[in-house]
Order: sequence, then structure tokens, then C-alpha cells
Amino acid sequence: MKFTYYGHASFLIETKGKKLLFDPYITPNELASNVDVNAIRPDYIILSHGHGDHVADVELIYSNSDATIISTFEVVNWFGSKGLDRGHPMNHGGSWTFDFGTIKLVNAVHSSSMPDGSYGGHPAGVVISNSEGTFYYAGDTALTKDMELIGEEFNLDFAIMPVGDNFTMGVADAIKACKMVGTNNLIGVHFDTFPYVAIDHEESKELATSSGIDLILPKIEQEIAF
Ligand code: NI
Ligand code: MN
Repeated sequence: MKFTYYGHASFLIETKGKKLLFDPYITPNELASNVDVNAIRPDYIILSHGHGDHVADVELIYSNSDATIISTFEVVNWFGSKGLDRGHPMNHGGSWTFDFGTIKLVNAVHSSSMPDGSYGGHPAGVVISNSEGTFYYAGDTALTKDMELIGEEFNLDFAIMPVGDNFTMGVADAIKACKMVGTNNLIGVHFDTFPYVAIDHEESKELATSSGIDLILPKIEQEIAF
């Protein structure tokens, strides 16, 4: 599996010959101005919830590609009502096997509304597994004991979690979340994009290292192989 970071909580996972784009928020992000958004041609666009900082570039990338949108029922239907009808709706606790592997939609503790203010369902995380590996993307969430269920069910190779604090978990809670889901390999996202989520990188990495967690705070366009 290959991870490529596009800033904020936007990243691409390449696995089993497919491209999975998560939570695209690239064109509004000044920090990601070097990313050529029109060159991103995913097979799937996977959305954790409806907030603008996770869906801003869905329409553009959808129209540039043959991508299918995978998200909660409400988010998929909202895009469907705008004519983006290649979608696969899911809901919490449900799994589905796609051509790249199996997704299980899991709980996130956050909120979710669409950019026009309409109801965005309940926010989600995902666990994705195939013969190349298994990873958890937490979406926007607080630390929650529900994460222990992920640790019981899956043998994760790595996790991608928000670490920016204020709107989501901060680093200390993400470290606890890693212990609960059972991985020491953490890629932090949802940091530094706005002043509310700016973090001290040195302090964050020291805290993680002292807890036995290998925290990567990726640079935009950085690629990481698992
Ligand atoms: Ni959010
Ligand atoms: Mn967010």
C-alpha cells in the first residue's frame, strides 16, 4: 500500500492497482497549492463526513475521473442529488467488499453537515483490509472506547488519525487511540491547515516516541509505503 498526502485530511491510498482518495480538500488549502488537483484520477472517493474541509474538491475530482463515492447514506445521497450518482452508500457497522478490498464503516465522535447546511448523517471512520494489509482511517473524531472494538477485530498495519486538536483528537488522545486499535504506526492528519489546528511538531513527536508510537506528520505530497 502506498500513502500520498495532499494536506489536511486529504490523502491517496494506492492498493491492489486501485486509487482511493480520502476527504479531498486541496484547492482551498493554501498549504497544498503545489498539488495538481486535476492530475488526481482516483477510482474511489471515500468521505468520512460532510464537512467542507473534507468534501471541497469532490465535484472537481469526480468530474475528472470515473470515481465512485463511498460514504454514509446521507453523504452519498447528497452528492447523488447534485448529479454525482456514481456512489456506494454505507452505514456504521456495515462492511462491503470492493475490487480493492473490504471496507468496514466504524464510529466517529464528531458532527456532520453538508456544505449547504443540510443533514450529513453520522460521521464515520473506515477500516480497509485486503491481501496487502489493513489500516484504519479515523476521520474526524474524538477518542472513544469504541476504538477498542477495532483492536479486537482487526490486526492493523497502520492508522491515519487526526492530531490537530480543537475540532478533533489531539496528539495525546491519538496516542491512546493507537493503543486501543492496536498499532504503533500512526500517520497524523488534520493539523496545521488553520490556526485552530496548528501543532508543535517536535513536542508531538517526542510525546509519541515516549509512548512507543511511531508518529509521522507527513509533508504535502510526501509518499509513504507500507
Ligand atoms: Ni469535521
Ligand atoms: Mn475536519
